[in-house]
Amino acid sequence: MQYFNNIVETIGRTPLVKINKITKDVPGLFLAKVEYFNPGNSIKDRIGIKMVEDAERDGRLKPGGTIIECTSGNTGMGLALASVIKGYKCIFTTTDKQSKQKLDILRSLGAEVIVCPTNVEPEDPRSYYSIAKRLAKEIPNSVHMNQYDNLSNRAAHYETTGPEIWEQTEGKVTHYVTTIGTGGTVMGVAMYLKEKNPNVKVYGIDVYGSLLKKFHDTGELDDKEVYPYVTEGIGEDFIPQNYDMKYIDHIEQVTDKDGAIMARKLAREEGLFCGYSAGTVMQGLMQLKDKFKKDDVVVIILHDHGSRYLAKIYNDDWMRERGFLVDEIITAKTIIERKQIRELVFADPKETVVSAFRKMKDLHITQLPVMDGANNNGSITEHQILQLLMDNPYHRDEEVGKVMGKPFPFVAITSTAADISKHISKENTAVLVKANSGSINIITEFDLIEAMA
Ligand SMILES: Cc1ncc(COP(=O)(O)O)c(C=O)c1O
Repeated sequence: MQYFNNIVETIGRTPLVKINKITKDVPGLFLAKVEYFNPGNSIKDRIGIKMVEDAERDGRLKPGGTIIECTSGNTGMGLALASVIKGYKCIFTTTDKQSKQKLDILRSLGAEVIVCPTNVEPEDPRSYYSIAKRLAKEIPNSVHMNQYDNLSNRAAHYETTGPEIWEQTEGKVTHYVTTIGTGGTVMGVAMYLKEKNPNVKVYGIDVYGSLLKKFHDTGELDDKEVYPYVTEGIGEDFIPQNYDMKYIDHIEQVTDKDGAIMARKLAREEGLFCGYSAGTVMQGLMQLKDKFKKDDVVVIILHDHGSRYLAKIYNDDWMRERGFLVDEIITAKTIIERKQIRELVFADPKETVVSAFRKMKDLHITQLPVMDGANNNGSITEHQILQLLMDNPYHRDEEVGKVMGKPFPFVAITSTAADISKHISKENTAVLVKANSGSINIITEFDLIEAMA
């Protein structure tokens, strides 16, 4: 029989997957270590069990103990999994910029989660670092794991992620590229790979708003580099002890916007549905594309799974609110996809004017196409109905087919907002579109404004 003794034993041995389309014009072989294959869906499962077992070994963690940690979610998940198997209690402090799903997942595994403000200094008593430290002092038999300064973090990657990459590439890896937060992932693997082959180049990918790059490049801890950003899990406003900058050959910074857009591209072009930092590392790699040559074997880390970011980077409204979709070309297809009411509401030529008006009133719409089966016979608008009733109140019982206006024109599904707007006028307030599925949809003047505003 082939089985694992518990879920924690399934951590690690994640696959390396070739990136095909995004890097097609860049020389070299690009391989992603897809860490969402871990049971908690992130690379941090590796450090969760390692930090717990090291704490048990050196006596900091005793049976029935409480694990305290400040975590953006993934490390919490790794620690929670280890704690469920080993019988510890978990209390996590996190910031209010983390996605709600991440926190709910931690609570599902029995952890207590305390949400703290993001935009305060680490030393501020309200920060998630300070609260974790205070709880660790107050609660008996508790240990603050502190993934930032706990060297078991990078050791987990030195012992597992690094050797896996070496073996999976048969020692041919030439470049290692990863996003950087606590520094555990970059450092542990870099230490292992450089020990095996000092020529392996290590590139850390940081986010704008973090001081890691400037510190790496100049040795200066510059607070002016620090400002709020929305990318989760990476960048720092201090230097965790897991870092030893001499192992990192270059640090590249990426904007929130570019990372988010690239994460969506990874999903759509490579089928890799990953978290925000996966987009950041891929974008950083593309910014560095001139550094790679034909025979290079470049390994990147994709830290976690996209399901935890559904309300963020994979949500069009979230992206649009931040101006991350400003370059998108609005087409009939995108407008239809965003509409609340998808099925086409229409009037039958045989129905009365008052019945057509009731449909408009109920759905808060101001015009209807008049359709007889698949035939686009004409249209009727609020404005026309008013004119008809002013003319003669008995028109309310008239058949729509006898008083309707011209049919709304059809446009192609690929038409841009500019193309569509050419058809919209006082006399013609909507267009019709046949979707690829064959269904007919309407785009009104209101829909067009909403899509562009
Ligand atoms: C999603 C995600 N990506 C990247 C990182 C950075 O990894 P490390 O902390 O090992 O530097 C983290 C760390 O929390 C993370 O949660």
